[in-house]
Amino acid sequence: CGIVGYVGDRPALSIVLDGLRRLEYRGYDSAGVAIVGAGTLETEKKAGKLANLEKALAERAASGITAGTTGIGHTRWATHGGPTDRNAHPHVSQDGRVAVIHNGIIENFARLRTELEALGVEFRSETDTEVAAHLLSISLAEVRAEGAEGPQALAEAMRRVSRRLEGAFTLLAVDTAIPGAVVGARRNSPLVVGRGDGENYLASDVSAFIEHTREAVELGQDQVVLIMPQGIEITGFDGTPVEGRPFHIDWDASAAEKGGYDYFMLKEIAEQPQAVADTLLGRLTETGEIVLDEVRLTDQDLRDVDKVFIVACGTAYHSGLVAKYAIEHWTRIPCEVETASEFRYRDPVLDRSTLVIAISQSGETMDTLMALRHAKEQKARVLAICNTNGSTIPRESDAVLYTHGGPEVAVASTKAFLTQLVACYLIGLHLAQVRGIKYADEVGAVVQQLQEMPDKLRTVLESMEPVRKLARDLASAQQVLFIGRHVGYPVALEGALKLKELAYMHAEGFAAGELKHGPIALIDQGTPVVCIVPSPAGRGVLHDKIVSNIQEIRARGARTIVIAEEGDDAVVPYADELIRVPRTPTLLAPLVTTVPLQVLSCEIASSRGHDVDQPRNLAKSVTVE
Ligand code: G6P
Repeated sequence: CGIVGYVGDRPALSIVLDGLRRLEYRGYDSAGVAIVGAGTLETEKKAGKLANLEKALAERAASGITAGTTGIGHTRWATHGGPTDRNAHPHVSQDGRVAVIHNGIIENFARLRTELEALGVEFRSETDTEVAAHLLSISLAEVRAEGAEGPQALAEAMRRVSRRLEGAFTLLAVDTAIPGAVVGARRNSPLVVGRGDGENYLASDVSAFIEHTREAVELGQDQVVLIMPQGIEITGFDGTPVEGRPFHIDWDASAAEKGGYDYFMLKEIAEQPQAVADTLLGRLTETGEIVLDEVRLTDQDLRDVDKVFIVACGTAYHSGLVAKYAIEHWTRIPCEVETASEFRYRDPVLDRSTLVIAISQSGETMDTLMALRHAKEQKARVLAICNTNGSTIPRESDAVLYTHGGPEVAVASTKAFLTQLVACYLIGLHLAQVRGIKYADEVGAVVQQLQEMPDKLRTVLESMEPVRKLARDLASAQQVLFIGRHVGYPVALEGALKLKELAYMHAEGFAAGELKHGPIALIDQGTPVVCIVPSPAGRGVLHDKIVSNIQEIRARGARTIVIAEEGDDAVVPYADELIRVPRTPTLLAPLVTTVPLQVLSCEIASSRGHDVDQPRNLAKSVTVE
């Protein structure tokens, strides 16, 4: 998930490796480099940490790989194809001329692969990236046949390839016959240029080259950039010349890693629109069918399912609680959600027609893994939702749907949660489609609504200033309560969990209707209560019920912090603080209502002086039971 390119007069290898090291924080599971010398192209790539790559390079130091002054390097976070040596980047074209590295997802890669195989191309990996390497060498041959030469030919070939690719990608390529040129293409994945003196850089973010230069150039979407020692040329995919926007980097190296944010958590919160878009990418066919990743279950297996169990821990468990509402509504299959650590010890009733969905960001959580193994022993089918390709949980499951959230560094989960929700919705919709039940009619509309979510999330993120202000105000509170109904209930649980994790404050989430049966006794003069209000459209009853609950707690002294959608005026008289979110259908609302709660906890924690990214006592991945 990190990309570096260099051209200049210094040995490229050490500069590229340094750059990769500075991008390590982005998370990766394999790494590789390609170095161009005078008429030579040498590559090395290895699964695992950079140390593995460096060891392999040291072993072949005699081959002269260190000599070239043009190079590209990559750290990979696996999407298509597990994290192996073969799937690591760079990928080299069959003629051995070009080497390509890639971030993102090429959505139409299956079609392109079939097309290339028909031309006799033999694929050496399971990646989507490899199609770009072969296409580039073919385009390069065409461009040369038309008379173009040198770096310009490489740029033109890259433009032709980029026009054929669908999805999100950053590509960098070098050609053995063109030393002194690295070409890059960008669509919806990050890429910036670093401008040096007689040398230039390309990277996923400025932290890769901040040690060498603080002058950078921003690229737009759908642009191709050519860097040479003496210059940078940017065009659109159609060849129109473009002026990049120059900017000066005044961050220090550690701020640069965080993209200028104070914490990884804030960066990851801000990445949510992209993470949601990436998780949706490639999951829908032109005819509206939903495509899951590695589904080793037949449609008949899915039709035979008569019960769903969701097992997960922490934040992932909360995504499962939301999923229950969606899956039962769309498929009419009974769905239970259980904390993974409890599951196998109570002897759950499972058989061949039970579908167990294991949700895990890391894919390594021991409690979830043990629940999965128990389910398999009982002959249940297991489907994993996971953010980490090649990890244990997907490997041991019958099917996997990967969330393409990208690596999550902060211990408290944010973008992983939103992408888990998206994955759960997709599975619910897929089950409904395969089973052809009544609610299958809704699928098309829901898919459309899901596609609108990245924009809605951007709107939410742009309006977080009042939440930050409120957070400073709440930093000294004794406790904060959260209430919700329907899918707002798991959101309340997640809001409370975030506050416990980050701010070390007493926080509880309740089903709003349950409050009167006990917890209402906690409410005292000024107790902050965050109320997640469902849309008044659709399920009007739910909305009205929670408005009554808000009145009840306010009458007992609560300070009400109301999260409600735009245009919901009924809540105004009862809200001490009002946080607006865009209008969203009830089942999908957790995608937008969770975000203010993440921001709230993060800001309260930082006001209280806590380490937001690494809260005390917690681990990102808990590999003990
Ligand atoms: C740990 C983390 C939580 C996370 C949970 C499940 O407890 O601190 O943030 O939600 O594990 O992790 P997973 O990787 O399985 O989603």
